[in-house]
Amino acid sequence: MRKPLRIGLLGLGVVGTEVARLLTVEQKTLSAQAGRPLEIVAYSTRDPHKKRGVDLSGLPWVASPSELAARSDIDILVELMGGSDGPALEAAEIALKNKKHLVTANKAMLAKHWKHLFALSKKHHVAIMFEASVCAGIPIIKVLRESFASNRISRVRGILNGTCNYMLTSMETRGIEFDAALVEAQRLGYAEADPTLDIDGHDTAHKLIVLAKLALDPDAKPQDIPTSGIRDIRLSDIRDAQARNKTIRLVASAEKMPDGQIVMSVAPQVLDSEHVLANVSGAMNAILIDSEPAGSLTMIGPGAGGGPTASGVLADIIDLARFEIVVEGPLYLPR
Ligand code: HSE
Repeated sequence: MRKPLRIGLLGLGVVGTEVARLLTVEQKTLSAQAGRPLEIVAYSTRDPHKKRGVDLSGLPWVASPSELAARSDIDILVELMGGSDGPALEAAEIALKNKKHLVTANKAMLAKHWKHLFALSKKHHVAIMFEASVCAGIPIIKVLRESFASNRISRVRGILNGTCNYMLTSMETRGIEFDAALVEAQRLGYAEADPTLDIDGHDTAHKLIVLAKLALDPDAKPQDIPTSGIRDIRLSDIRDAQARNKTIRLVASAEKMPDGQIVMSVAPQVLDSEHVLANVSGAMNAILIDSEPAGSLTMIGPGAGGGPTASGVLADIIDLARFEIVVEGPLYLPR
């Protein structure tokens, strides 16, 4: 039997809970996919006694995220607590400095501290994996890092926030008002802990930064993005658009200009109702990529929520488990 991949799990919100649940309920299947046992060995969350539908009572609870990250019995830190700075960032830094791979869904932290975190990852020879940070269930990071590695990408455009898209389409199709739509998106587990990040467009901007760094220019910076969200859009605006056969969507765009400059924006756009982005509904996300030599690619899929985001996190965990096997010897062959 190969040695287990030992996981320290930080954060038991909607996503962390789903990751913990799947790693418990589907332990055998996921370990078989990984080629070695995947084991949560310790976790940290603010309130370990809160009812969550997952039982981690047999495992050590660590009050301090930094202490969890430094434990000698973990191989990887799975950071799902969120926040661009503070305990999440501290824990990420400590994990990397202690030679633990980092799996994170934290787009705000990546957008703000990309250079610093990847310098640490390089210095300490460990990986940062972040498939779940952008568009949850759409495997866009893998596409940009691996499948499109040979391409020159000139533009990335799309719908990157499930909460806003859910709200806009709920207002459009069911005639509910903005506030009611936001309450629903929060109840369904789509919104950030601070939903102003969603409705003011900042979450979209964080994701756009991550995409732009991977696809266009590693130096793309958050402050380069003029950002507006959907806070001021009312049902009457959506009805006016519908009357003109149009649809409103929050669209993110990053484009490389002929002079090499990267132009980025996040703003609501009034689209023809035949436009591909106008037909992306509910918490779905979409990404359109213009590239050479592959051509144009469109990916549409679930962009928020526990299941889709956990899917991205688990893919990264399995990748790390497999990668270490590749280093040790041929993939999947027992010792
Ligand atoms: N609040 C985010 C969204 C979660 O609604 O898209 C997924 O990143």
